[in-house]
This record gives sequence, C-alpha cells and structure tokens, in this order.
Amino acid sequence: MTQEKILVTAALPYANGPIHLGHLSGAYLPADIYVRYQRLKGKDIIFICGSDEHGVPITISADKEGVKPKEIIDRYHKINKDAFEKFGMSFDNYSRTSLPIHHETGKEFFLEFYNRGILVEKKSQQFYDEKAKMFLPDRYVEGTCPICGYEEARSDECENCGSLYQPTELKNPKSKITGDMPVLKETSHWYFPLGKYQKRLEEYVKEMNEKYGWKDNVLQYCRGWFKEGLGDRAITRDLDWGIKVPIDSAEGKVLYVWFEAVLGYISSTKEWAKEKGDENLWRKYWQDASTKYIAFIGKDNIVFHSIIFPAFLMAWNDGEKEKYCLPQNVPANEFLNFEGKKFSKSRNWGIDVIDFLKIFPADPLRYTLAANLPETRDTDFYWKEFQLRNNSELADILGNFINRTFTFVHKHFDGKVPDKRKIEKIDAEMLNLILEYPSKVAALFEVYKIRDGVLEIMNLARAGNKYFNDSEPWKTVKTDKEKCATTLYVCMQAIYTLAELMLPVIPFSSEKIFKILNADKTSWDECGKENLKPGHQLNTPEIIFPKIEDEAIEKQMENLGKPEEKNEAKQIDLITYDEFMKIQLKVAEVTAAEKLEKSEKLLKLKIKLDNEERQVIAGIAKSYKPEDLINKKVVIVANLKPAKLMGLESQGMILAVEDELGGLKVLAVDNSIKNGTRVK
Ligand code: 2FM
Ligand code: ZN
Repeated sequence: MTQEKILVTAALPYANGPIHLGHLSGAYLPADIYVRYQRLKGKDIIFICGSDEHGVPITISADKEGVKPKEIIDRYHKINKDAFEKFGMSFDNYSRTSLPIHHETGKEFFLEFYNRGILVEKKSQQFYDEKAKMFLPDRYVEGTCPICGYEEARSDECENCGSLYQPTELKNPKSKITGDMPVLKETSHWYFPLGKYQKRLEEYVKEMNEKYGWKDNVLQYCRGWFKEGLGDRAITRDLDWGIKVPIDSAEGKVLYVWFEAVLGYISSTKEWAKEKGDENLWRKYWQDASTKYIAFIGKDNIVFHSIIFPAFLMAWNDGEKEKYCLPQNVPANEFLNFEGKKFSKSRNWGIDVIDFLKIFPADPLRYTLAANLPETRDTDFYWKEFQLRNNSELADILGNFINRTFTFVHKHFDGKVPDKRKIEKIDAEMLNLILEYPSKVAALFEVYKIRDGVLEIMNLARAGNKYFNDSEPWKTVKTDKEKCATTLYVCMQAIYTLAELMLPVIPFSSEKIFKILNADKTSWDECGKENLKPGHQLNTPEIIFPKIEDEAIEKQMENLGKPEEKNEAKQIDLITYDEFMKIQLKVAEVTAAEKLEKSEKLLKLKIKLDNEERQVIAGIAKSYKPEDLINKKVVIVANLKPAKLMGLESQGMILAVEDELGGLKVLAVDNSIKNGTRVK
C-alpha cells in the first residue's frame, strides 16, 4: 500500500511586525499539533510556511519608520522565524516571498494566465495622491463607509459592517500619506475573472465538505461570498514593492500580494526540495492528485484559501501543464482576543511571541493556547488562566502523576519498571483505558478538533491520578508488594502513553519525560500498548512542570495597556564598525532657509559643507522658524542618496531628536567646528 501523502501549509505571516499569541492560536499551533500527530502516525507529510514579504502592510511599516521595505522584511523575517523556532513550530521549510524562487513562481502563474487569455485588462479610476505623486493602495485611503457611516473605513472595505464597495463610493476620502483628499485618476490593471469559476467553486466546496467535513465557520464564509456573487479581481497593483508584472506594458506595476502570497506555499516547497537535493521533490506533493492538502489559516484569510487560491489552481489545471492539487480542507480558526479585547500594538494590549518566550517556556503557552483554541468562536487569553492551566493542570495533574509514580518507583523498586504479577479488575480497566486513548484522541485530531483532543489527553492524566489514589500503593507496598508492583507497572505504561500523546502539544516537556523513561517514542498507534517492560531501568526524575508564581503573572498584568517604554534597540540588528563607517556624518552650516508653501512640515534649506553647497528639504517646519536656523551648524548624513520631496531634490538629511511632545531639535555643534568635518 502506498503511503498517504499529506501537505500542510500555514498562512505566511506578513514580515512587517512580530507575531503575537493571536497568530499562534489562529493557525500555527493547531497546524503544528496536527503535523506532529500525523508524523507519529507515520504519514509522509511536509509542513510548509514562510514570510509574506510584499504588499502594502510592508510598505506602510517601512514608511512609518522611514526605512526601505527590505529593512523591515529582513528584521521581521528573522524575529518571526526565531519566535516560531522557540515556540517549537516544526516547519519543514520557512521561506520568504522575496526570494527569486518565489518571484519566478509568481511570474510563471501570471504569464500562464496571461498567455492563455484568462486575464481581463480593465481601466479603472484609482485614488491618486498628487502631493506624494503616487497611486494610493486601498489601505492608504481612509474615509466614511457609504453603508454604515463608520469614519475610519478602508477605501473598498468597511471593518465595522464588513461591506465591500467601490473606492469611488467611499465618502470623504483622505490619503493616509499626506492627509489630503486624493483625486481619482485612470489606471489599468489585469483582473482574474473569479465569477467564471463560481459554479465550479461552489461544487468544489460542496464536494470537499461532503467528503471531508469542512468547518461550519468556513462554510458560512464561503456561502456568504457565493451569495454575494464573485466578480473579477484585480491581480496587479500600482506599487513599486513586489513582484514586477512580467510584461512590457506594465511599468510600475506589481502582482497583487494576495495573488502571489498563496503561491508562496508552492515556492517554499520548491525551496525545500532544492535543499533536499531533489529539485523535483515538491511535485510529489503538489502535483499528485492523491495528496491530502490541508491549509491552516485564521478566519481573516478564508476567502483567499477556500475560493480564490482554488480558483487559481483550477485555472492552471485547465491548461496543458502538470496539474496541482487543491486544498482538501481549510480548517480556519476564529480569533483569539487578549484579556477581553482585541490585540493592539499601539495600546500595548497583548504580547508578542518573542517577548513571551523570554519570560516563560514554550510548553505552558502551547498547552494553554491549545486548551482554548478559537475553533468555533473567538476565545481569550487571560494571564490568570495561563497560570492556572500551568499550575493546576500541567503541574498538579500531569506533573503530579508523573512525579509521584517516578518517585515511588525509585524509592521502592530501585528505579526499575515493576512487574505486573497481580492484574485485578481496576488494573485491567486502566490498561484498557490507556489502550483506547490513542485512537480516541486521533479521532478528534483527524477532524481538526485539536482543543478537544488536548483536553482529552489531560483526562488520561486525571484518570492516572485517580487510579493511583484508588490503588493506594503507599499501603500495598507494606501489605501486598505484588499488587503494589502491578499498580506502578500500570502507572508507568500510562506515563509512556501520556508522553507520546502529549508530544504534539508540549514537545519540549514530552522529550524530557521520555528521557526520564529512558525510552524512545514509538508510533502513535502503538503507544497505548504496554511498551515498558518489567525491569526496564529509569533515569533520575526531575520536575518537569515548575509552577508559575503570582508575582510573575502580576508583573505582566501591571504592564498591560501602559505605553511601552521605547526600547527600539531591542529589535534592531547590531551593525559592525565598518557598516557604521559607511555612513558619512558631517558638520554643515545652514546658510538659507525658507518655508515651503504647500507644506506645514517641510523647510527648504541651503547648507554649506567645506567647499560645497547643498539643498536639503527637512521636516522640521513645525519646530523651527526659518530664521532660527541661519548660521546654525548641524549634523547631516552626507552620503544619503538624493531624494525628491514635493518635487524638490533633497541632498542629505539633517539629524534631529524628538522631544516628549513630538517637537524636533536638530543636533547642533559648536560654531568653532569647521564646515564639512566628519562626525565619528
Ligand atoms: O494575513 C496575513 O498575515 C497574510 N500575510 C497571510 C498570507 S497567507 C498566504 F497567502 F500566504
Ligand atoms: Zn460600514
């Protein structure tokens, strides 16, 4: 019999900020538990993810910081990759959509559709910011929702009432870049005719649901979209960050991020195959109709994975080339909130994964999130619940059962698994219960009821404690050593099974338990059997689940919602001395200054280095009158590439610091210093 092949993908997070606990609950933890479980089942499975590094979320973050998008993606790709590793995510590959292999894949799909005449070119009116001289992507425009009147609605979608509309319908539009009212200007884009696929998509969702049972929340979203009717979707954008549209007439246009990000799953698998030394290995998963492809995502990504991506793959598969498999299931979760509210970076509400793992180990977090996954409705993370799940469940139930058993076996049986000489009803029942557990939990994991599966595993630990109590080995050790040995034999088998069943959930702790057991894991289907033989020597026990003290939790709760201390250095990569020396900081004298008529923020300055005059456009008009600057000696970045601001060339940047009220103070040096002197 050939092995069932499973391909699992988890949504590619945007590399524009650190992932938080909500991301883990939405897609990553359930996917990881599922994959680790399937690996133990012996399945041929690969687990694919990576950073989504294009699109407006990235350019917005870059604009906010005044850096290039590349700097943002490099920083957050690393931070998120590290965070995932520390959290125990067991991806087979974690790629990046900025890699050439992905650009090629994106272009290949576009050209396939373009050459086969699938795409429709259409002219449209798009918001254009005349001051910034650019077309404004949807997220750069804000206004009043034409349906419900919500004042911070996006240009084509209202967060408040969920309505979708044409940007032209938005009331009081404002550019987020300059705050000005944008004008509508004609542009042309390529559209994917999603409507043409609606009937097939409806059949696809119906068939997948009938065969594999899709989650209600996912079906409901799909039905909503179908009812609304699918239309053409633009798959290109006027933007300079992304995959260039690979045809001559498309200057200044890139592929829409949602067109190419989903293809990132394919390119990440290609990268994985290359690293494995077999360039074509990815085809074994993607281009084999028998592959079971499961796409884990959060609810905000449903339409892209259950409708749009399948439509792209259908369109591809209608052609002559090798065909791709479509998602068999899209087990999307709802959202995790934090202490009753949405996660919010600006209000410091929530915690990033990387920060969390600096304070607490991964497993208590994995367990707490797993026990409370938003599988059918939004759920919350509460610090107190985290403490309780750790102290009262991991430590007091699972940890206690393991500990009392190990301690007893060491004290009374020389640290060796005792023999089962006297199996009575209570023992047979317990052995039977243990035996049933792997299939009981598997039945839940197979249908993505990860939370129920995890809670069920803890019930086995509960049953273990009850069995220990009811058997009273502390009495039988004196009165009936054979009975006592049997009790401990059974407890040891339970621990082995628990260690294996918990491997997908709390892998770090399970590994420790296996170490103390001095045994290796087996397959999922075998782990409920009596795997530890009498006489098997155990290692010295240690505490696996330390308690979390009140103070540690209180400290976290105190900080919640308070403005975060600015500690930017913690996220910024260190640079070498040589890198620093590339930046030429020089002293310059301001010789002329004037306000720019159309701008509240900018001043046009003439500055003098040693033998050279330059023009610098500086954003300090709110803090300085032009005359205050004349003859001041300031510090400038002298080798910054010239840039155009409001149509004027700026040949350098003046260094300034921000005071508490947001005012700017330029860095000035003593007038005795010669113009052009290097600052080192
Ligand atoms: O919502 C997000 O974070 C997106 N970057 C998810 C993309 S999933 C897939 F398309 F890559
Ligand atoms: Zn609305």
